[in-house]
Amino acid sequence: MANVVVVGSQWGDEGKGKIVDWLSERADVIVRFQGGHNAGHTLVIDGVSYKLSLLPSGVVRPGKLSVIGNGVVVDPRAFVKEVTKIREQGIEISPVNLRIAENASLILSLHQELDELRENNAAAGTKIGTTKRGIGPAYEDKVGRRAIRLMDLANPATLMNRIERLLAHHNPLRRGLGQPEIAPQTIYDEVMGVADFILPYMDVSWRLLDEKRRAGARILFEGAQGVLLDNDHGTYPYVTSSHTHAGQAAAGSGMGPGALNYVLGITKAYTTRVGEGPFPTELFDEVGDFLGTRGHEFGTVTGRKRRCGWFDAVLVRQTVKTTGINGIALTKLDVLDGLDEIKVCVGYELDGKVIDYLPASQDAQAKVKPIYESLEGWKDSTAGARSWADLPAQAVKYVRYVEELIGAPVAMLSTSPDRLDTILVQDPFED
Ligand code: GDP
Ligand code: IMO
Ligand code: MG
Repeated sequence: MANVVVVGSQWGDEGKGKIVDWLSERADVIVRFQGGHNAGHTLVIDGVSYKLSLLPSGVVRPGKLSVIGNGVVVDPRAFVKEVTKIREQGIEISPVNLRIAENASLILSLHQELDELRENNAAAGTKIGTTKRGIGPAYEDKVGRRAIRLMDLANPATLMNRIERLLAHHNPLRRGLGQPEIAPQTIYDEVMGVADFILPYMDVSWRLLDEKRRAGARILFEGAQGVLLDNDHGTYPYVTSSHTHAGQAAAGSGMGPGALNYVLGITKAYTTRVGEGPFPTELFDEVGDFLGTRGHEFGTVTGRKRRCGWFDAVLVRQTVKTTGINGIALTKLDVLDGLDEIKVCVGYELDGKVIDYLPASQDAQAKVKPIYESLEGWKDSTAGARSWADLPAQAVKYVRYVEELIGAPVAMLSTSPDRLDTILVQDPFED
């Protein structure tokens, strides 16, 4: 019985939501294990689009259990908004099909404000281009051992003490930034205002997951962001504040590494990035515009235009290794339809030398120059293809070349935003 971990193998927005939705038909439990509402996962089902940020993509399928694990930072007010919005789209969400780890740390308004202040006041060259959702500051407080956790809302008697401890850190920081101090009662009112809504979802999620696993349930772990945004393995400091690594599926849900049987890396057939940071294959020409327009590359969360470029096999080969990818789901192949020539980055040049990986140094990352191989494009359409036999020969050649370069097989192929336009090559649950 295999459990599957889905991670993004690039800088996010690879199509994780679509693939998790598709795979969730074969799963019993769907677990988010890191990140927060910085994620934007779009699902298209019967022509209707669902945009999920904090909720696991499994919530749209009746009869499945979704879990927000302890590794996620939960903004309770964003939770209320998202549940309300998705319910308005006709999806049932209740503690019957959704649970949140009691030990998940909370994102408060002061985190979001701090994230925004830092980004808006960043000195030239130091801006990260965050989603301004408060993710970084919330994880800082978690690691700093002063976070307010979901379970704290269930105990108003001690909540005020915890808030005071948190503010003993934040108020001096705010003074330094020229911001007014916050009174403990303000934070108390903020969280208690949503406590009645969110607390019924609270659970001892590690125990629930253990029970499910023992009962033979199939668990699907839904990563957010991508491995190149991982706090250790990404393009630091232009990363997010969580571990997007597949191993975090264990730590961020309260299961041992033995529970993770197959790692599926969701991989876009080209490359995109939102926010600042190095991007060796970025295109500033009409091909970049073509990819952005054809691929609708605008951020789900912030609406920002995504930067676009050719497929970087060096980076994906690296994430295959750093995060232990067993197979990939190659998405958005259809976006390349009609191009005369398709380039793939197969190595870098750094200071006159050829290298086959991205060095960790920020300076080196800014300097590497891509070395390209060129492939002939295809004129026939792959859009909406549902079987391998429907793919033009040149498209198959491209897919095979990608597999060879990254050292991992294509387990799934996606040819449109729609749930059904998906080709299964090897079922990750059966591998
Ligand atoms: P995620 O953050 O990894 O879940 O990805 P996003 O949902 O932010 O971005 C992927 C976008 O591409 C979404 O709008 C999807 O509907 C869309 N998408 C997913 N797979 C495909 C595909 O194979 N082809 C096309 N054209 N669009 C896709
Ligand atoms: P999904 O799950 C793409 C990027 C931000 C910024 C950096 C840090 O939809 O793939 P943060 O707000 O996390 O502190 O921002 O990470 N980022 C994403 N980029 N997709 C995402 O999520 C992202 N979540 C964060 O743009 O560069
Ligand atoms: Mg996204």
